Amino acid sequence: MGINAAGIPVSIDFSQLPHWLLAAATGMGKTQLALLILYQLSQKGYDIYLADYKGVDFGPEYRKTGHYADDDAALEQMLDSVVHELNHRRTEFSIAGCANLEEYVQTTGEELHRIVVILDETSMILDTTGRDKDGKAVVASITNKLLAIGRLGRALGIHLLVATQRPDVGSVPGSLKAQLDGRICGHTADAQSSIVILDDGSAAKLPAIPGRFIIRNGSGSDEIIQAYYYHQ
Ligand SMILES: Nc1ncnc2c1ncn2[C@@H]1O[C@H](COP(=O)(O)OP(=O)(O)OP(=O)(O)O)[C@@H](O)[C@H]1O
Ligand SMILES: [Mg+2]
Repeated sequence: MGINAAGIPVSIDFSQLPHWLLAAATGMGKTQLALLILYQLSQKGYDIYLADYKGVDFGPEYRKTGHYADDDAALEQMLDSVVHELNHRRTEFSIAGCANLEEYVQTTGEELHRIVVILDETSMILDTTGRDKDGKAVVASITNKLLAIGRLGRALGIHLLVATQRPDVGSVPGSLKAQLDGRICGHTADAQSSIVILDDGSAAKLPAIPGRFIIRNGSGSDEIIQAYYYHQ
């Protein structure tokens, strides 16, 4: 991800912590970090599914992959195919008597890719403010699919990275947030936003430097990093 103050590289591991929440104020480098993660995971053989409602931050090469959504209809379709794969894996793993992806790959010899669903600017996707009845139903349906991935993805090798400027419940529902164990937080405008992500005010005290993030990976101690800058 980047280096800590001692200059030592810091990593995160999706096979240890399957789902991640990435939050920070505007301009703090969330999209850049999402790109870095996307690039590294694709190098590791992950299948990438990207939702980018802003539609400007990710180059045309991501659209060509076929796993790119910049509106509700495309995202619903994309998540349908991920949930379909999830259910397929559940059945196959159960038939093979395997508890998780590593076991399944070892037992069957089948090459099964990990999958990551990356949502950038999640408030544009999940905030129902100003949406009509149909719009709210679409958000509920998208949220349910994300929750299914959150609930069952760990063992099946299907992961979430949810990036948001605003961490409030309108942008990322509490039920979804609860499944995003890994936390990456850049400078926040106030202590309240930091508390929503990290349960303490530390991110409000981080300098407002793009790429400066606190990583909470569940090991008990947070790491502060300066993220690598990924050039497209
Ligand atoms: N790791 C980094 N090192 C140096 N500069 C960076 C880094 N990450 C981002 N930047 C700079 O900060 C700018 C803003 O980054 P980015 O667009 O990723 O922010 P963001 O958090 O996604 O903002 P928004 O919430 O408005 O979408 C980039 O255009 C780049 O110039
Ligand atoms: Mg961004």
